[in-house]
Amino acid sequence: MFDRASAVIKDGKKLSFDYVPEKLVHREEQMRRLETLFRPMITGGLPCSAFLTGGVGTGKTVTAKKFCNDMMKYCAGSGRQMDHVFINCRIRSTEHGVLIHLIRHFDPGFPDRGFSADEMLRSLRKHIESGSRPFVLVLDEADILLKSSNRNLVYQLTRFTEDIRGNSSVSMIMISQEHVSEMLDDASMSSFKRANTIKFDRYTKDELKDIITMRAGEALASGAVDDDVLDLLADIGKGYGDARLVIEMLEKAAYIAEESTEGVITADDVRSANAMIYSNVSENKLAGLDLKRKLALLAVARAIKGEPYISITKAEKTYAVVCEEYGQAARKHTQFWTYIQDLEKTNILDTTVRSEAEGGRVTYISVPDIPPKELAKKLEYLLDSPTSGNEYEF
Ligand SMILES: Nc1ncnc2c1ncn2[C@@H]1O[C@H](COP(=O)(O)OP(=O)(O)OP(=O)(O)O)[C@@H](O)[C@H]1O
Ligand SMILES: [Mg+2]
Repeated sequence: MFDRASAVIKDGKKLSFDYVPEKLVHREEQMRRLETLFRPMITGGLPCSAFLTGGVGTGKTVTAKKFCNDMMKYCAGSGRQMDHVFINCRIRSTEHGVLIHLIRHFDPGFPDRGFSADEMLRSLRKHIESGSRPFVLVLDEADILLKSSNRNLVYQLTRFTEDIRGNSSVSMIMISQEHVSEMLDDASMSSFKRANTIKFDRYTKDELKDIITMRAGEALASGAVDDDVLDLLADIGKGYGDARLVIEMLEKAAYIAEESTEGVITADDVRSANAMIYSNVSENKLAGLDLKRKLALLAVARAIKGEPYISITKAEKTYAVVCEEYGQAARKHTQFWTYIQDLEKTNILDTTVRSEAEGGRVTYISVPDIPPKELAKKLEYLLDSPTSGNEYEF
């Protein structure tokens, strides 16, 4: 029963989120900067640092992984030595989790319990010093540790770069969507130089097209997808500039196409995949909102239809109508404003303040992640069903 060869997908692993492709397109500049920043480590064993920042799916993680792999290969090929560990702070979000992962890189049998953080840091230092080679520590999604009570660990690790003796050194690559410099203390900041920031901009449509074309070539059977379908994928993704979203959409579309008899990915498969991803993004979040915030959001979704932005005043007018429709009393302006801010905190909408030509400042609302029509439909469905899920604490 599993004998039938897959008509569409040649190698599904190539579509997985942690696959590092052979070639990265449109990240040449970032790779070059990394090379410049880390040259002192390769040539003189000195500690170096870099901070990678940019939006979702802009290639920060994959670039850091590729750079470390390339450095390892270069060292192996030129008789030099180096070592590196990659830590995702979302997966290992505690001090203990990070330290165990680091120590087990050197000592796989290190016990899970029985050592304090200080003892573990001392043990780590010994391993690094006895390794007598440059060591690169990559902290991906570092902001998660920095925003938590575990930020002290990041401070201690950044200071490691200064204290290591012998032929070893500790270099660091920190990755975060947000700038971390404000989150670091002064001492860490001085070892972690401000100038070493490498920015990752959102991808343009053409860049997304190149990325997705390359990935389709690696992962799909030949002839399984037409160029204009890849174009459609890039078009859908361009508002986000997020390569992950586009790859995920290709993967979903490929699985949908696999079920059909034609053996090719059609534009409709892409549209279905797109709809599936939208519902993943938002359904839980929406169900978690309380009645008052659902009504405020429905007002925004209806008012913004067809417009990129709307003023809060315009949204508030629609809000009054929506409340009446659902038999609820509309809240006052300050309360409505609080709902909008809460919705922004859950990343369902964005607000920006603009100075108007006539003077004064006006708040504008945008809904970047879901077509407003879709959003309104989902909210209306939830408002009409008697049990509409958990409610968020604000
Ligand atoms: N320039 C590129 N060339 C080829 N593939 C890319 C490129 N940029 C990103 N990708 C792919 O897109 C996906 C998302 O990239 P990545 O995980 O590096 O994003 P990120 O910036 O770390 O996002 P996040 O902030 O959400 O962690 C991965 O599958 C990655 O392989
Ligand atoms: Mg990442």
